[in-house]
Amino acid sequence: METGINVSSIASDLREYEDFIQPYEDAVSIVQVWLETLDKDFQRRHKHNPIHSMQSRIKTLNSIVGKLDRKGIPVSFEAAKDYLTDIAGIRVICFYVQDVYTIVNILKKQMDIIMIKEKDYIEEPKKNGYRSYHLVLGVTVYHAEGKQYYPVEIQIRTLAMDFWASMEHQLCYKAVRDDKTLLSKELKECSLLLEEIEGRMERFYDPEAEREG
Ligand code: GTP
Ligand code: MG
Repeated sequence: METGINVSSIASDLREYEDFIQPYEDAVSIVQVWLETLDKDFQRRHKHNPIHSMQSRIKTLNSIVGKLDRKGIPVSFEAAKDYLTDIAGIRVICFYVQDVYTIVNILKKQMDIIMIKEKDYIEEPKKNGYRSYHLVLGVTVYHAEGKQYYPVEIQIRTLAMDFWASMEHQLCYKAVRDDKTLLSKELKECSLLLEEIEGRMERFYDPEAEREG
């Protein structure tokens, strides 16, 4: 039966994707170990875990193709490697704003990294109210043939910032609606309120007291 599907070509495409994506997965694993280590070390020293939770994700082939297309770049694995810095991503959720900076500072001191991009949307939130600390680190991955840097996008934010970003994504993503102006205004206001609330709660957190306790 002629199906028009070339099984061996699909298998070879799949192998090519797996070869392409493996070092990104390795880079994510490396950063996850750094983060787990610093969380444990901080707990031991200060009796506090700066990391509430973390998630990682690898961009699917579909969204790699979609993003290259949107940017008007001819689709290929080479282009993805050259132009996309968010194929590998980790989101780190913290309790307190000071935890975010603790993590940023420790990550920046790791050996075997290069800083590709750094944006402090906490110090300077986006116009819509989005807050988070973004890093794109080039993480060294060692192969049999040598070593190479692979970008990992790390978003570090508090529970309050994550709540806002999740709600904003839910309310705005791809949504066609006629109350956009009101929604934007409300979201901006909610962001400011959440910033105030987390500040009020953080005032009760005393790292020194935790150390002695
Ligand atoms: P992208 O090309 O969209 O990845 O963005 P960029 O290169 O301009 O980088 P930026 O640091 O602004 O955003 C990277 C990622 O942060 C996005 O893919 C989102 O996951 C997150 N992000 C940035 N802005 C917003 C926002 O306004 N709302 C939400 N919910 N997430 C955001
Ligand atoms: Mg992105």
